[in-house]
Amino acid sequence: MNQQLSTKHLLGIKYITKEDIELIFHTADNFKEVINRPIKKVPSLRDVTVANLFFENSTRTRISFELAEKRLSADVVNFSAAASSVKKGETLLDTVNNILSMKVDMVVMRHPAPGAPQFLADRIDANIINAGDGTHEHPTQALLDAYSMREQLGNLKGKKIAIIGDIKHSRVALSNIYCLKKLGAKVVVCGPPTLIQKHISTLGVDVSYNLRETLEWADVANVLRIQLERQDIQYIPSLREYSQYYGINRALLDSLKNVPVIMHPGPINRGVELSSDVADSEHSIILQQVENGVANRMAVLYLLASREKLK
Ligand code: CP
Repeated sequence: MNQQLSTKHLLGIKYITKEDIELIFHTADNFKEVINRPIKKVPSLRDVTVANLFFENSTRTRISFELAEKRLSADVVNFSAAASSVKKGETLLDTVNNILSMKVDMVVMRHPAPGAPQFLADRIDANIINAGDGTHEHPTQALLDAYSMREQLGNLKGKKIAIIGDIKHSRVALSNIYCLKKLGAKVVVCGPPTLIQKHISTLGVDVSYNLRETLEWADVANVLRIQLERQDIQYIPSLREYSQYYGINRALLDSLKNVPVIMHPGPINRGVELSSDVADSEHSIILQQVENGVANRMAVLYLLASREKLK
């Protein structure tokens, strides 16, 4: 197994190799053991300063990165666009250059514009980790999702993974597809035709509009949120109708011959894509995904920082 990532930044799963993903998972296995010890901290990122720049809302990703950084003993600074000089008209590059002049080594960034992390990576020297850029990619979510699937199913080669819901507006869907295809899984995307891109099959996935058939086929159903905030026109008649055709409730789950593992990246619209008794059921691993997020983010931070030290 490679001992080093092939890349200085984590901008998207598209830009890393299968070997990179396997190295991250192997490293995350070790960190998962660490975070379950009574003393959860290791000194791996001592003297490394990480800035978390969030230009868009987040609960899980932001807390998870901050915890991962602190478990690795990094110095952490947090920036939220809502409480910053961005509101006074400062540009992204000026904001980041000002932060970097305070000697920041790594930047974790969430931004509503697709490509914003790449824009920074082309202009500044710090390691950039994409924590979600618009409808483009959310690489650490895909890593923690695939890692959680691997815990349930073992090697993902040939495993049947359904991604269900608003595929069109979802960075999680795109990063999941890149990651799962690199690991050899079979992927079906399922949702209303208006919420699936026309040419998505060019990424090597099959398309289904039938939820029941998709659930019967799948080993895992990764269910996505309807992203109303990214929809400039109305793609579905109503949330009620969406839920009727593409929502997963207990009655549907109980009627299946094979019940897949249920996943969701959060935040959940309870009663829309998942009923509460499914989200909280024995088939759901939603909270294990969150736990695995910390270990995988520790692995990414550690491996990017080690790469700098080895230079
Ligand atoms: N899964 C995810 O990205 O959640 P947040 O938007 O809360 O970070």
